[in-house]
Amino acid sequence: MGNIETVKKVEVAKLSDLSVGIGQRVNVAGEEIALFKQKDGSVKAIENSCPHKKGPLSEGIVSGDHVFCPLHDWKINVNDGKVQAPDVGCVKKYKVEIKDETIYIHLSL
Ligand code: FES
Repeated sequence: MGNIETVKKVEVAKLSDLSVGIGQRVNVAGEEIALFKQKDGSVKAIENSCPHKKGPLSEGIVSGDHVFCPLHDWKINVNDGKVQAPDVGCVKKYKVEIKDETIYIHLSL
């Protein structure tokens, strides 16, 4: 049989823990994740490590759908994890679920 991918839903924070425009770092099952609450109340989750030299993206400046890495200013889309031109690369993104003010991340195991 082929590999069966298991997805685990993990509680990571409360919606009220986050502020729009300010990233929040969480550790889940050994993975460091940056959460970003958007103006529309949604939450985006990406790997908290810049593909350039591992800058902590949760500490970057947020502008709409993008975060600027605090180390050398690479611009990364928080929806799909893609680095914006002229730089290239991608960080992992995570599926987020919000239920009753609690934020869950879906992890593939
Ligand atoms: S480490 Fe992020 S831009 Fe250099």
